[in-house]
Amino acid sequence: MKKTYTYPSEITVGVVGYGGAFNMGRQHLKEMQAAGMTPVAVVEIDPARLAVATQDFPGIETYGSVEEMLAKSAVDLVTVITPHNTHAALGLQIVAAGRHCVLEKPMAVTTEECDAMIAAARDTGVVVSTYHNRHWDGWILRANELFRAGVFGDIVRIDLRMGVHGRPGDWWRSSRSISGGILYDWGVHLLEYSLQLITAPVTEVSGYASSGYWAGQPDAKWGADTNDDEAQATVRFASGQRVNLTITQLDGMPERGFMKIVGTKATHVIDWNGSETVTGQAGGRFTTERAPNPKAEGEKFYQNIAAHLTTGEPLVITGEWARRPIHILDLAAQSAKAGRALPVKYA
Ligand SMILES: NC(=O)c1ccc[n+]([C@@H]2O[C@H](COP(=O)([O-])OP(=O)(O)OC[C@H]3O[C@@H](n4cnc5c(N)ncnc54)[C@H](O)[C@@H]3O)[C@@H](O)[C@H]2O)c1
Repeated sequence: MKKTYTYPSEITVGVVGYGGAFNMGRQHLKEMQAAGMTPVAVVEIDPARLAVATQDFPGIETYGSVEEMLAKSAVDLVTVITPHNTHAALGLQIVAAGRHCVLEKPMAVTTEECDAMIAAARDTGVVVSTYHNRHWDGWILRANELFRAGVFGDIVRIDLRMGVHGRPGDWWRSSRSISGGILYDWGVHLLEYSLQLITAPVTEVSGYASSGYWAGQPDAKWGADTNDDEAQATVRFASGQRVNLTITQLDGMPERGFMKIVGTKATHVIDWNGSETVTGQAGGRFTTERAPNPKAEGEKFYQNIAAHLTTGEPLVITGEWARRPIHILDLAAQSAKAGRALPVKYA
C-alpha cells in the first residue's frame, strides 16, 4: 500500500534492535527525529535494552518481535539495527508488510538476500535502503571534491586497508556466521567510498582468506566459527581500474592510512586525523599537502529519506546501490574458496 506524506512529521518511524555496543538505536531515532520524522516504536529481544529505549523515548511503543510490531503498530518506516545475519529475514518481513525499510550496513550477507529484499520492496511499493551514513564522511566528501577538481588526474587504483595484529574481540562481529566474515564491517564502508570514485562497471572479483590462527587459540570465543585472520578482495573494473581491500588481524606493520587513492597526477592518503596529497611535479619533484578531515554530514542520510518520501527527491542510497558492496564481498568469499577470480552478476 503506497501512502503519501506532505510533511516529514507524518512519517512514523521505528527501529529493530536497540543494542548497547554503540547505542545505535538511540542514534537512529534521534537522527530520524532531527530529519523531521516521528519516532513511535522499538523492537528488542533484550528486555533490558527495551527499558533503556523507554527511558530515552518516554511513551514509545515497545515490542519483543518484529511480527508483533507489524501486527500492532502503524509504523511507516522501520530501521533494522541488528547483527548482520539477521538483516535479510527481518528486512523481508518489513517490506512484505508494506513498510519502508532501512537496514544498517551491510544490507545483508549475500547477493541473493539483497535481491529478495529489493524485489519484495518493488512488489509492495516501498523503499528499501541501507544506512550508509558514511557516504557523507568528511574525508570522502573532500576526496570527491579533489577528484572532480582534477587534482588526482585519472584514478588508477584504490587501496583500502584496516586492522593490525590482534586477537578478535569477544563480540558477535568476530563470528563468521553472524557477521558474514571479517570483510563485512568496515569493508562495506570502504568499498562504498571507492564506488563513489570509480564509476566504471565491475567485471570480476578475486578473494583471498587466511584462517585458523585466532580460531585455534584456546580462548577463542567462537572457536572454528571465528572470522578469518585476514581477508582480501581485489575488484577489477571494465576501465582497468582496481580496488584492493585488506582487513587483517595479523599484520603487525600496517600501512599508514585506511584509504589510498593513486591517480595519474597525485596520490591521496586518508587517515583518521586528516589526509595527505602528494602531487608529482616536473623533474621528479613532489609537493605534499596535508589537510584536516572536514566534518561528516551523515545527517543527510535521513534528510534524504524524508525528502524522498515527501517531495520525491531522488533516493541517494537505493537498494541497488547498497547491494554493490555486498555483491563484491559475497563474490570475494566464494572466490577465496574456489581459488580463482569470479565474474559479477551486477556490474
Ligand atoms: N553505520 C555505522 O556507522 C554503524 C556503527 C555501528 C554499528 N553499525 C551496524 O549496526 C548493526 C548493529 O550493530 P551494533 O553494534 O548496534 O550491535 P549490538 O550488538 O550493540 O546491538 C544489536 C541489538 O540487536 C538486538 N537484536 C538481535 N536480534 C534481534 C531481533 N530479531 N529483533 C530485535 N532485536 C534484535 C540485540 O538484542 C542487540 O541489542 C550492525 O549491522 C552494525 O554493522 C553501523
